[in-house]
Parts: sequence; C-alpha cells; structure tokens
Amino acid sequence: MKNNKHLSIINAPFNVDYSNGDIKGKNVLNISNKLKDLPNVFENEAAFLKLNGETIVYDVQAVLPVKEGVEDGLFYGKTTIHPGKVGAEYFMTKGHFQQKKTKAEFYWGIQGEGILILMDKDRNTWAEKMFPGSLHYINGGIAHRTVNTGTIPLSFGACWPSDAGHNYQDIIDNGFSFCLMEIHGKPQLIASNK
Ligand code: 6PG
Repeated sequence: MKNNKHLSIINAPFNVDYSNGDIKGKNVLNISNKLKDLPNVFENEAAFLKLNGETIVYDVQAVLPVKEGVEDGLFYGKTTIHPGKVGAEYFMTKGHFQQKKTKAEFYWGIQGEGILILMDKDRNTWAEKMFPGSLHYINGGIAHRTVNTGTIPLSFGACWPSDAGHNYQDIIDNGFSFCLMEIHGKPQLIASNK
C-alpha cells in the first residue's frame, strides 16, 4: 500500500546543532533536573542542604518517535550537565540501569569534559573520560551516571532501544559503590559512604 510520503522529498523532522547537541523539531521532550529533584544523590547531605534547591543541575532533551516499551524502536537524547559541585562532588546525573538488562546504549561527548561512571551488577565500578568526539558503549546490565568535571556545560548524546526502560530504584536503594570527588583539583573515584 502506498503511503503519502511515497516519492516526496521532505525536510528532516528533527535537526541537531552539533556545536552543543541541541535538538529542534516537533514533540522534542525537555526535562530539567534541579537540585531539589536529586535528594540522596550526593554524598555530602549538609553541603546539599546549604545550596539553592532551584539550581538546575542538568537538562535532558529526548526524541521518542515510538511509544515507550515498543520493541522495534530507538530513542535519541541529549543531556547537558551544568558545571557545579555539592561539597567536593561534581554535578552529575541520577544514574540508572536499563530496566531490561539485555539492552545496550551508546553515549557520545559533544561539548565540555566529564566522566562516565559505569558499574556492573557486582558493583565493580570504572570510569571513561568524556570529551567532544568520545564514543561510549554501555552494555546492558551496566549502571551509568555522567559527571561534569569541567567549568563549562557538559553535553552528550545518547541512543537507546525504545524498550530498554529505566531502573532508577536500584540506584536509589543502593547508590553507586564509588563517587567522583575533586581531590587536589583533580577528579578521583572514592568509595561511597551511602
Ligand atoms: C536514557 C539516557 C539519557 C539519560 C540522561 C539523564 O536512558 O534516557 O541514558 O538520556 O536518561 O542522561 O540521566 P538519568 O536518567 O540517570 O537521570
């Protein structure tokens, strides 16, 4: 059966500004995560409570062309983590496992510098440096959290299967085994007390 696009040359429904990753187009999702939306994420609770809860830590844009949970689709996103710290801990994302452990994901650095923290089911933790042009493969079953270690916004792209889902509860309950602190001016992974 012919569809109404047959033989037509149309504009791409979305476009990306490669300088900062900004996505333009219809129905692009925009979500801001403020400090007040990140309780129990940072190590130093006293330092966290002293900060203005309205401070935006990171913004997420996403293109979801199919319904969440559909097996044969792909989602595309861009996250911008603003520079900042809670105590000695850099601003970062909540972090999560995919709901489906068989679903992998790509991340790539667009702007700024940071660290991608990765943790497996046995809580082994390692990290990859993120910078413009860096490409990261996140295997299913690996928790992932991104950290801005620089002084300008850190932007990165993401592409993941539409049925991967997000498991935040595991991180809310158990946290990551290591966190990233600024020690003598340099990012360092140290054991979490959470
Ligand atoms: C995703 C991507 C990515 C991620 C954001 C925010 O699965 O949607 O991994 O878009 O959600 O970078 O990170 P958190 O989901 O951990 O808050």
